Amino acid sequence: MAVGLIVHADQAEAILQSGDADLVAIGREMLYNPNWTTDAARKLGVPDAFNAMPSAQSFWLDKRASAVKNLRPSTYGTTLAE
Ligand SMILES: Cc1cc2nc3c(=O)[nH]c(=O)nc-3n(C[C@H](O)[C@H](O)[C@H](O)COP(=O)(O)O)c2cc1C
Repeated sequence: MAVGLIVHADQAEAILQSGDADLVAIGREMLYNPNWTTDAARKLGVPDAFNAMPSAQSFWLDKRASAVKNLRPSTYGTTLAE
């Protein structure tokens, strides 16, 4: 398991893909962003990433995502559609 200052989705994915670790632990970054796993899944292109969340959240987030074309996580850019 890899741990310590792993904050970005692509950083975590690279550790797994390289075989350096089988599991990545996210500590303080998860305190900062409790939805890190969903955010990372979307950034890595996982289909239906919202389905991993409780239905009370995924229902609304799916609706929101389909209402705005190419809506991406807020940390991607500076505007709603960016
Ligand atoms: C709220 C919190 C609780 C933690 N509790 C433990 C613990 O009980 N045992 C342990 O070995 N490490 C504990 N850690 C340390 C983490 O496992 C990890 O090594 C450390 O936070 C560095 O990873 P990060 O940069 O992703 O936060 C804790 C960290 C946080 C933020």
